[in-house]
Amino acid sequence: MAIRGYVFDAYGTLFDVHSVVEAGRAVTTDPAALSAIWRQKQLEYTWLRALMGRYEDFWAVTEAALRYAVRRLGLTASEEAIGRLMEAYLSLACFPEVTAALERLAGRPRAILSNGTPRMLAAAVASSGLGRHLQHVISVDAAKTYKPAPQVYALGPRTLGVPAGELLFVSSNAWDVAGAKAFGYQVAWCNRTGAPAEELGVSADLVIRGLDQLPV
Ligand code: 2OP
Repeated sequence: MAIRGYVFDAYGTLFDVHSVVEAGRAVTTDPAALSAIWRQKQLEYTWLRALMGRYEDFWAVTEAALRYAVRRLGLTASEEAIGRLMEAYLSLACFPEVTAALERLAGRPRAILSNGTPRMLAAAVASSGLGRHLQHVISVDAAKTYKPAPQVYALGPRTLGVPAGELLFVSSNAWDVAGAKAFGYQVAWCNRTGAPAEELGVSADLVIRGLDQLPV
């Protein structure tokens, strides 16, 4: 079906959280391990809080996950170090192909739909310079729950004024791909790491390795 607009996941899809790894060097000799546990716990907390009906925004959840990861690795981190690690989320770079890829899609609406808070997303869009290529920045905070809850994905069609089936949802997170497909989007999985597909009963319509491979 024709694509009348694009909806992008943020962290891991547009923005490279690797710069968070660099900031981790201040508290550990293995920043990749810290970043991996931090990211996994961040996502776990979003799913658990959504299921419990105990929403806290993504900044609070991200900080709680960082504090868990520091303890889990037996590290000590000052409040100043914690603050610096959190600040890294506000100045993420985008992956190298993203700017040109978004430019190629000009003429149709392009939006972010992310777990990030409005402040986190505004900062990441500003630091990456992507603002001029995005017509909408949508935070799940409007729904007070998290992906993959259907009411989150409903924010896309409502904001763009286009039915989900005529929008292409793009994410690097396979669980997010499943949620968007289950909701009714056309979906492209940007499988940056060569990960196996999830066993969640739905599949992406398209698998790419970079956003430069998106159909115009
Ligand atoms: C998002 O940006 C967490 O990557 C996920 O919504």
